[in-house]
Amino acid sequence: MTSNVLVIDFGAQYAQLIARRVREAHVYSEIVQSTISADEVRAKAPAAIILSGGPKSVYEVPAPSLDPAIYELGIPILGICYGAQLMALQLGGDVARTGAGEYGRTTLTRSGSSRLMGEWASTTDCWMSHGDAIARAPEGFVVSASSPEASVAAMEDVDRRLYAVQFHPEVAHTERGQELLATFLHHVADIAPTWTNTSIIEDQVAAIRAQVGTEKVLCALSGGVDSAVAAALVTKAVGQQLTCVFVDTGLMRKNEGEQIEETFTRQFGVELIHVKAQDRFFEALAGVTDPEAKRKIIGELFIREFETVARELGKGGDGPRFLVQGTLYPDVIESGSGHAANIKSHHNVGGLPEDLSFELVEPLRSLFKDEVRHVGEELGLPAEIVWRQPFPGPGLGVRIVGEVTRERAEILRNADYVVVDEIKKAGLYRELWQSFAVLPAVRTVGVMGDGRTYAYPIVIRAVTSDDAMTADWARLPYEVIESIANRLIREVDGVNRVALDVTSKPPGTIEWE
Ligand code: XMP
Repeated sequence: MTSNVLVIDFGAQYAQLIARRVREAHVYSEIVQSTISADEVRAKAPAAIILSGGPKSVYEVPAPSLDPAIYELGIPILGICYGAQLMALQLGGDVARTGAGEYGRTTLTRSGSSRLMGEWASTTDCWMSHGDAIARAPEGFVVSASSPEASVAAMEDVDRRLYAVQFHPEVAHTERGQELLATFLHHVADIAPTWTNTSIIEDQVAAIRAQVGTEKVLCALSGGVDSAVAAALVTKAVGQQLTCVFVDTGLMRKNEGEQIEETFTRQFGVELIHVKAQDRFFEALAGVTDPEAKRKIIGELFIREFETVARELGKGGDGPRFLVQGTLYPDVIESGSGHAANIKSHHNVGGLPEDLSFELVEPLRSLFKDEVRHVGEELGLPAEIVWRQPFPGPGLGVRIVGEVTRERAEILRNADYVVVDEIKKAGLYRELWQSFAVLPAVRTVGVMGDGRTYAYPIVIRAVTSDDAMTADWARLPYEVIESIANRLIREVDGVNRVALDVTSKPPGTIEWE
């Protein structure tokens, strides 16, 4: 049985980061809302609890609180930032509005003895983000560190197994942050570091077998990381019962279909239905220039193609009863419900019709993206699939401005290949959130050799981002831009000019549509 750490979320963007850091210390973690009761906590029997930071002041009304009986359960608790202040306040200490908060890199000065920071030097750098500060630790606590504006920057009550830090150990700028978390988990809470890629795979394989028994399973592969890793896990569990479907819309990246076939058919020996639907997609998209209309057409047609395969397989009544979906943990947390009730768009372009009533198999629903990639690697998926940058469900369709035709898709596919190839050669592929080519709907005059040309420009789009909600344009080295541009002009027919998008998000979006 895997030990579990509950990360209680007080509304900070940090809760997910904390949960990931805990897992990096090889301990399973789960995020729960701050309204959880002591009884609910007891039922989950966590080996430790971490209280996250949050954007509010403990004195705001309403401000999230915690069932105080949770402190009495004898479970080791680490409060971080808001969580630290709340612990101080609820256990009888004082939290003050000093008016002088600390934001960013701050020097931490150690004092007294500490189980969490035992061997640390007298000063270290930590990352702070707080307005209020603990002014007096509750009775029974020892103050183990301070900072210029926080006299109680860390405190602990070893007997009651309660620990609190005003700074953020989960943030990389806190010098010994990960070490502090590991000490809390492994030594204070005594949790063995058993959450590994191997254990994740073993657990999921057992869960999939238990769920599907001897029934047939269907999986739509999109070329993306999540569906590929989910399919690979199901293959390991019940490969003989799995059928994968890959719908080629004509809007995939270069060699995508071949790569999927190579991996799943030849390497994994899975039954793969490769639907070559390009003609139908281009036909449906002919003459359409409105971005939303294009999305709708691609989404609906994709569903129709998938549905046709599913119905065909179901003929005679013994078709697949289960559908694999690559839902990740962040989707589960954000949906706020215990279980995503409906089939989410497995291709992110639209939902499946309700009369295709599958039961979902979601082997990734407790995993973060980085864990999914590592599990994929361990399952033997090629690096080109596992480390792939995000690719939109409607594929190249949202990167072709104006009409989507077979010819224009081909120009963009070739251009995209060049951009990505050069980015990879420069060693930048994993650093960038996305890097790709865009095909605008204009043509311009150029000269090549002795002749005039009238052809398309390609726009290079490369961004850095953590979550795609905001993004910054990547400062690509001039040499990389130059080699991309040279190759685009030389190798891609139909292109005579190259531009670089230097727009951040906001105000721009990542894709052009
Ligand atoms: P934008 O262009 O809105 O994109 O800044 C944000 C992120 O979402 C991706 N994207 C999609 N992903 N289905 C997807 O699975 C879609 O329809 C879709 N549209 C945009 C985009 O690539 C970027 O990472």
